[in-house]
Amino acid sequence: MDRITRTPTRIGRSVDEITGSRRLRRTRKTDWSRRLVQENRLTVDDLIWPIFLVDGENKREPLPAMPGVFRLSVDMAAQEAKRAASLGIPAIATFPYIDHALKDQTGSHACHADNLINRATRAIKDAAPDIGIITDAALDPFTDHGHDGILRDGIIVNDETVDQVVAAALEQARAGSDIIAPSDMMDGRIGAIRDALDADGFQDVAIMSYATKFSSAFYGPYREAIGTSGLLKGDKKTYYLDPANSNEAMREAEQDLAEGADMLMVKPGMPYLDIIHRLKETFAVPTFAYQVSGEFTMIKAAAANGWIDGERAMLESLLAFKRAGCDGILTYFAPDVAELLAS
Ligand code: PBG
Repeated sequence: MDRITRTPTRIGRSVDEITGSRRLRRTRKTDWSRRLVQENRLTVDDLIWPIFLVDGENKREPLPAMPGVFRLSVDMAAQEAKRAASLGIPAIATFPYIDHALKDQTGSHACHADNLINRATRAIKDAAPDIGIITDAALDPFTDHGHDGILRDGIIVNDETVDQVVAAALEQARAGSDIIAPSDMMDGRIGAIRDALDADGFQDVAIMSYATKFSSAFYGPYREAIGTSGLLKGDKKTYYLDPANSNEAMREAEQDLAEGADMLMVKPGMPYLDIIHRLKETFAVPTFAYQVSGEFTMIKAAAANGWIDGERAMLESLLAFKRAGCDGILTYFAPDVAELLAS
């Protein structure tokens, strides 16, 4: 007899005996039932769109490592912000590509009232007053060494960097930024920014702390996008977190909350879902993930090769953030997802 086509006969207990009649597939049997029991959902309200800025006019420079992502001149950024607002995306986060001539050892151009970030904030507020603007008070686009801190004798000096980051944050608030999101991981920056904002009358400007920013390989395409990859000397291990550590991430978050952070962010996202989960379970505060450039690029590259279904992988990756405990996600997929969810 043909062994392959023979129906196997069971030995031992029946499935109902084994499961105690608890058959978990019952709720999964139809589409309506699966929708009914679905625990987490991704909506347009969960999206924050990071965009790249560049000087000039009418510019849309494609980024080779980030298919479908562009560096936008301020006028184009304002247009895109309008589109994002009409799609229902709650907020935009801006990141500038700064001309070499404007960079220096301390990133002083970060503190100028009319730098690229602040001009974009004004233009976006003008074009789309109802979309939130999140600005990164980081120095790395402005330093000639690509670090997020001031470099002295090979050391990133904490307190001087905090003063510079605070000055940058203040100018961002004056330009109309709604949320300051400092990504430099210096000690004391959150409290210092809060003090300065309050002293200047910006009680309503919030702080989203990049509380747990890991020293990661997944930032590669971003550094191309803002033009810092060729500049960076060494690595960022003296200020970003070791990917091996989660207790340390908890301490960072606890400290930032104590200093006045309104929201927490975990970055990168997908390799750090455990951190998101721990933060949300422990602190129960608004928690966000940054699905960073390398995560975006991996999905795009695999999809371009026909190795995965890009659209499904995009949605699944974002839903996973919700399940882990996120209230929202910074993602380069934001406009694509918003369009997809609306269709
Ligand atoms: C630094 C900063 C980084 C990102 C945003 N702000 C990383 C870095 O170079 O250290 C990464 C975002 C991404 O990879 O998408 N201020």
